[in-house]
Amino acid sequence: AAVLSIISICVAHAVLHARAQANTRGFISIDCGSPPSAGYVDAVTWLPYVSDAQFVDAGVSHNISAEHADMIDLKLPRLYNDLRSFPTGARNCYTVRPLTPGTKYLVRATFLHGNYDGLGPGGLAVFDLHLGVNFWQTVNVSSVSDPFQAEIIAVVPDDYVQVCLVGKKGLGTPFISGLELRPLPDTLYTVVANASLSMAVHGRYNLGPDDEKLVVRYPSDPHDRVWKVLANLRSWNPANTTGNVRYVAGDQFEVPSAVMQTAATVDDGFSLRFYWDAYESNKELDYFAVLHMAELRRLNSSEARICEVYLNNGLWYSKPFSPEFRYSSSMFGMVTGSVEYSFRIEPTANSTLPPLLNALEIYVMVPTAERATDGGDVSAIMAIKAKYEIKRNWMGDPCGPKVYLWDGVGCNYAISSAPRITSLNLSSNGLAGEITTLLSNLTALQNLDLSHNSLTGNIPEFLAQLPSLAVLDLTGNKFNGSVPESLLKRSQEGALSLRIEANISSISNDQPQGKKPNRSTAVTVAVAAVVLSVMVVVVVTLTLCLRRRRTENDLSVRPLNGGKSKEDNGDAVSMQFDNRQFSYKELKTITNSFEKSIGKEKKTLGHSLTEVL
Ligand SMILES: *[C@@H]1O[C@H](CO)[C@@H](O)[C@H](O)[C@H]1NC(C)=O
Ligand SMILES: *[C@@H]1O[C@H](CO)[C@@H](O)[C@H](O)[C@H]1NC(C)=O
Ligand SMILES: *[C@@H]1O[C@H](CO)[C@@H](O)[C@H](O)[C@H]1NC(C)=O
Ligand SMILES: *[C@@H]1O[C@H](CO)[C@@H](O)[C@H](O)[C@H]1NC(C)=O
Ligand SMILES: *[C@@H]1O[C@H](CO)[C@@H](O)[C@H](O)[C@H]1NC(C)=O
Ligand SMILES: *[C@@H]1O[C@H](CO)[C@@H](O)[C@H](O)[C@H]1NC(C)=O
Ligand SMILES: *[C@@H]1O[C@H](CO)[C@@H](O)[C@H](O)[C@H]1NC(C)=O
Ligand SMILES: *[C@@H]1O[C@H](CO)[C@@H](O)[C@H](O)[C@H]1NC(C)=O
Ligand SMILES: *[C@@H]1O[C@H](CO)[C@@H](O)[C@H](O)[C@H]1NC(C)=O
Ligand SMILES: *[C@@H]1O[C@H](CO)[C@@H](O)[C@H](O)[C@H]1NC(C)=O
Repeated sequence: AAVLSIISICVAHAVLHARAQANTRGFISIDCGSPPSAGYVDAVTWLPYVSDAQFVDAGVSHNISAEHADMIDLKLPRLYNDLRSFPTGARNCYTVRPLTPGTKYLVRATFLHGNYDGLGPGGLAVFDLHLGVNFWQTVNVSSVSDPFQAEIIAVVPDDYVQVCLVGKKGLGTPFISGLELRPLPDTLYTVVANASLSMAVHGRYNLGPDDEKLVVRYPSDPHDRVWKVLANLRSWNPANTTGNVRYVAGDQFEVPSAVMQTAATVDDGFSLRFYWDAYESNKELDYFAVLHMAELRRLNSSEARICEVYLNNGLWYSKPFSPEFRYSSSMFGMVTGSVEYSFRIEPTANSTLPPLLNALEIYVMVPTAERATDGGDVSAIMAIKAKYEIKRNWMGDPCGPKVYLWDGVGCNYAISSAPRITSLNLSSNGLAGEITTLLSNLTALQNLDLSHNSLTGNIPEFLAQLPSLAVLDLTGNKFNGSVPESLLKRSQEGALSLRIEANISSISNDQPQGKKPNRSTAVTVAVAAVVLSVMVVVVVTLTLCLRRRRTENDLSVRPLNGGKSKEDNGDAVSMQFDNRQFSYKELKTITNSFEKSIGKEKKTLGHSLTEVL
């Protein structure tokens, strides 16, 4: 049975509220695939757009084909002229920063294929969008010439957000034309209160304009929502006013006047109906519906427009309702548990006028159960990635979802807290320069393998301060100087399995090859420690010779007590990540076709709630 929760209804009262000043602070507008230096101001919205080069480090830029470019020139934003495609990699991500942590954002991704690859319809693709570590929706670009938009309202917990394109096997090359982020005040869409629940736009419609191609967005809507016309309503009558339609202070939708000034009504005595089907692929998703109404004409004393709203034959809102003259009222609530959501706005017996509807919003609730990696770890690993210019599959969240775990990164997944990076293997990655102090920010690190690179300089002291570090492999590099005493001490205490070349260890006395250890540094090591170390080395070396064959250059300092091999421990750490599958609720794009008869005269309400732009 349908569980309806109608949270409240906003009815306009006497408090007037001046329309908020247009404010583009915090807007981030990215034109994907445009040349790195080519920023511009959009001719319609006057919003500045920048290239995506600084937000992504994979993919290939393309221009759409000349014939499509000519076609869109007149009616579509410049954003659509170029795009970035991702022919390689299972997951490719944009990292957009800086954002204000804890802020609610409207995130919009736009797609226009435009025959960029010359493959025509053969180049079309179906792929998934993820917001951070969570599934957002499936993008099914089913036409070369039609744009597709995906929009989500989400609270962003960190100072960045990641938008990822996840390809599907055999379903084409993912691509993206634009990415737009608009901060929303906390007071808007309060159903999205924190990062644990987001909602994706299923449809956001302006009802009643003459021009079916009309798109209302910024600056008419200061929040730059995209309002499209719900077109082709043969049995709906348009109504409009030139007067301003306001909303009261505290209104949580702030529908722009340009949208509220037009409405759809029906003939006298009829009810106004619309419906949508639950996604075929996931009928368990919850929806959030918002019906916006405002009276557009001053009624005289003998006129009344009173209506009741039904959903699937049950009363959705418990009282008869009269829209106020040029004030927005919104009925909203979660709708769930059905395969079809059929709304009916009926006039009451004492209503002299038919019902009206000015605007309509339908959202799909997006569960965001997956947790993102600890923010400190993310910013550290991102900085490490930049420092050593690591590419691989290092995109999106390092630990999640687990199927897209970064190469060489291992994580610990606790139920009650964010995943932490516990191992980092950068062996044979061509790293050059010194060991970066950024590693000290990976405070949960247990296992660090930097072997077989071209790292130079000293082996830094801070490695000994990493509280959980148990395995450290520095072999096959070009370090000079000595091993810090603190690091040796930890290995002697059995807390750390340390692997370094014999010839750079200050405690090693066996045949120095090439450069000699730096004497003055070596001197700083206390004599007692040296003696003890030598003993340790001898014992350990003997133990190792007996237990394991090694390359001749390697000297492994292993814990003496405990007896348990840290290497094995490392294997155990990596094994605990394996074989946990994450399931994602799959969403489909809107493909409803309406064919409903209304009233007794079998008038047909035929139209589809498809994406129109
Ligand atoms: C796209 O076209 C512009 C000029 O219209 C050109 O400067 C740019 O290099 C082209 N980009 C690609 C990837 O071909
Ligand atoms: C994509 O959309 C087309 C047309 O609507 C449909 O035929 C096709 O099955 C869809 N593909 C997927 C994978 O959902
Ligand atoms: C998120 O908001 C919901 C209400 O919308 C609340 O029930 C939940 O406890 C909140 N979660 C956190 C982590 O604050
Ligand atoms: C408003 O209604 C009038 C008369 O029906 C029509 O001529 C006009 O185009 C409408 N305006 C809009 C913006 O729909
Ligand atoms: C109210 O308006 C309607 C339609 O505009 C008109 O037919 C009716 O006579 C008016 N009644 C009064 C009392 O003015
Ligand atoms: C109209 O009828 C409804 C019941 O259908 C009633 O609740 C409401 O008070 C009536 N309104 C007027 C203005 O008579
Ligand atoms: C590393 O940690 C320090 C101290 O906690 C912090 O100030 C710094 O911003 C961090 N650096 C990065 C790249 O996360
Ligand atoms: C790191 O990766 C290399 C090659 O990818 C592998 O040989 C080595 O055993 C790994 N190190 C650890 C500690 O797992
Ligand atoms: C280590 O190498 C760097 C250059 O790579 C050099 O500046 C420094 O003096 C060397 N230190 C020692 C102790 O040899
Ligand atoms: C240590 O030995 C290796 C192998 O013999 C050699 O390539 C390297 O240059 C030596 N390093 C130093 C600092 O002497």
